[in-house]
Amino acid sequence: MISSNLSNVRSDIRGEIYYKALELEKNGEKILKLNTGNPAAFGFKMPQSIKNAIVDNFDKSLGYCDLKGMPAARQAIYNYHLENGIKAISPDDVFITNGVSEAAYMAITAICGPGDEVLVPTPCYSLWVNMIRMCGGEAVFYDCREDNEWQPDVQCIEASITPKTKAILLINPNNPTGAVYTKEVVQSIYDIARKHNLIILSDEIYDRLVYPEATHIPTGSLGDDVLVMTFNGLSKSHCVCGLRCGWIMVSGPADKKQTLVTALVTIASVRLCSNAAMQLAIPAALADTEYTKEMLSPTGRLYLQRKVAIEEMNKIPGLEVMPNKAALYMFPKIDTAALGFKTDKEFAYDLLLKKKILIVPGSGFYAKDQNHFRIVCLPAPEQMGEAIRAIGDYLQGK
Ligand SMILES: Cc1ncc(COP(=O)(O)O)c(C=O)c1O
Repeated sequence: MISSNLSNVRSDIRGEIYYKALELEKNGEKILKLNTGNPAAFGFKMPQSIKNAIVDNFDKSLGYCDLKGMPAARQAIYNYHLENGIKAISPDDVFITNGVSEAAYMAITAICGPGDEVLVPTPCYSLWVNMIRMCGGEAVFYDCREDNEWQPDVQCIEASITPKTKAILLINPNNPTGAVYTKEVVQSIYDIARKHNLIILSDEIYDRLVYPEATHIPTGSLGDDVLVMTFNGLSKSHCVCGLRCGWIMVSGPADKKQTLVTALVTIASVRLCSNAAMQLAIPAALADTEYTKEMLSPTGRLYLQRKVAIEEMNKIPGLEVMPNKAALYMFPKIDTAALGFKTDKEFAYDLLLKKKILIVPGSGFYAKDQNHFRIVCLPAPEQMGEAIRAIGDYLQGK
């Protein structure tokens, strides 16, 4: 009855262990849910600029809008990417979507059919692998090297290319590792795509959440001779995950770009349009750079939470972690076998039962070993510190 394409589709972020957490909550337990990057759940408020833009113009969003998105919103997105150096683009190359999640669905549907291969990082945010599999394609993993600050292994990417490869996915800044890729790495991947005539899918949803020690290089800024789909949205930078607001910016050689844009128009027309109320907020949000910068400043919540998380993790014997350079996550390493577990899932399950903290095991991100988990740095500093200390107590008590 059910499509075989679904047989290998799963999201551990909201998987079995999450359901166990909900069951415990129903029974009156208090669970600290560190499984999703959902700022509003931790008291982050949407910026007033967004609220005003929506509330003051709400009536304008009641009808279906243009299938690519409202012109003013597309113009603002175009300006944003142009300022960030993406070349040879126009507002007609923008598709506004119900989050990057729908953007991924549209992009993968456009380029990937049964038997096609897309190169994806390991570890990888599961959305992309799931979309590829739902379209009947194959996600082929390339390594990101923990011993090299989680940068993609460029040789591994090139060695993984076959005649069936259609595209390379980059998640930069990265979820779950918090890495920001160096210019050399992004350039090498861009060059590989050009050499092998591949499309680049560049998920840059965290590009506004980068700490000062790193610089984000937009893939599409490296030239106009490779077809690049850049994905971005407001969920994280403006703390509005539930409003579902994302987009695709297509860049690259004019002829290929036109073919891809035509395919995306077909797919966008099938789903009519994306949530119009949210599109009213896009120009205001992209103009409001202060809101996001403030969260990352030395007195901002994200900065302070990350600081506490790093300090407390550094005190835990046997736990190794690369401080995130961007985004909301870190991907610490522990020795689960030495703790007596066969899998990282068993570890995450036991941590939930013993400490009432919900994390996502590394295998939920297709990690190559069973020795990682993802931590979300969203609780306020005090609670963040308590949570990491509780994880430390748990690990030392084993
Ligand atoms: C790397 C990455 N891409 C895409 C998404 C989905 O974002 P959206 O809320 O825009 O669908 C997330 C959400 O956590 C993410 O981490």
